[in-house]
Amino acid sequence: MIFRQLFDSASSTYTYLLASRRGGEALIIDPVLEKVDRYLQLVTELDLKLVKAVDTHIHADHVTGLGALRDRTHCITVMGEMANVDVVSMRVTEGDKLSVEGLSLDVLYTPGHTDNSYSFLMGDRVFTGDTLLIRGTGRTDFQNGSARAQYESLFGKILKLPDETLVYPAHDYKGDTVSTIGEERHNNPRLQVKSVDEYVELMSKLNLPNPKMMDVAVPANMRVGLAQDEIARKGWAVTATQAAAMVGDTTIALIDLRERSEREKHGVILGSLHAPYPDLQENIRPGGMLHELASATGKRIVFYCAFGERSAMAVQAAQDAGFASACHIHGGLDAWRKAGGPLVR
Ligand SMILES: [Fe+2]
Repeated sequence: MIFRQLFDSASSTYTYLLASRRGGEALIIDPVLEKVDRYLQLVTELDLKLVKAVDTHIHADHVTGLGALRDRTHCITVMGEMANVDVVSMRVTEGDKLSVEGLSLDVLYTPGHTDNSYSFLMGDRVFTGDTLLIRGTGRTDFQNGSARAQYESLFGKILKLPDETLVYPAHDYKGDTVSTIGEERHNNPRLQVKSVDEYVELMSKLNLPNPKMMDVAVPANMRVGLAQDEIARKGWAVTATQAAAMVGDTTIALIDLRERSEREKHGVILGSLHAPYPDLQENIRPGGMLHELASATGKRIVFYCAFGERSAMAVQAAQDAGFASACHIHGGLDAWRKAGGPLVR
């Protein structure tokens, strides 16, 4: 396995680059905007293909690298279901698996620091975001934080992991890089409380100043969405209502770009074909499934995904590859559902 812990000294943020092998797919957790060049250099040096960029929560102390990484690599941006950002490509929640080739992370919903904080468990290690820090815990006094919820996330979930589980947090201000669950349980001063009320009391007395970057970072981090409007302006988008009229139209091929797990969980549009986004380049080149489908049948390709982000990137790629009629459903299945579009399982 390739496992890299990268540090942004301006915000004391740890970013993690994971892959199962050289030459394989990679995933990055909590990237910082200013460090994007460095991450991409490393991705190239290790011969990796970045396919997913994930934030553990909406950060208040740095601007996320999610949007820049998506623009430069066409990777899938991922956040938890509770993150109130304009658009990310994929949303995950408790019990979901976040996977790339050869790696699978279990998603844990761990609110408290914010109401959109998630942790990710990968075998012997857990990425705790700002929920559990080394000898500390994330503050709970802004961004819909809740000390009570954090106590539950810590004592009810994270501290129930085996003692030897490695803890990789989103920040450290003292120079520590990794800890374990057992070590934190015994030595973390915030965890030496006897009740939820004691924890709430402790957290209410921290009196921390707001992060320097907060007024810049939070609004910026709520706008990671791709400009789907640009794709619409080019005439490459249909609304969910227009798309509903296309179901059953034999001149149209509806292509679902989501992952199998998303299809099983949320349902699919009747008659659509499954061609996952990570395989897009392969599918649209000559000899590829979509290329052959379009040229053999003359059908118009209509892409869709969860929120219209992956499908907007797919339209651009397909147009670049010569599919002049390719378009996508603006706003994806989310817009489809809101327009009352039927789904089947
Ligand atoms: Fe945070």
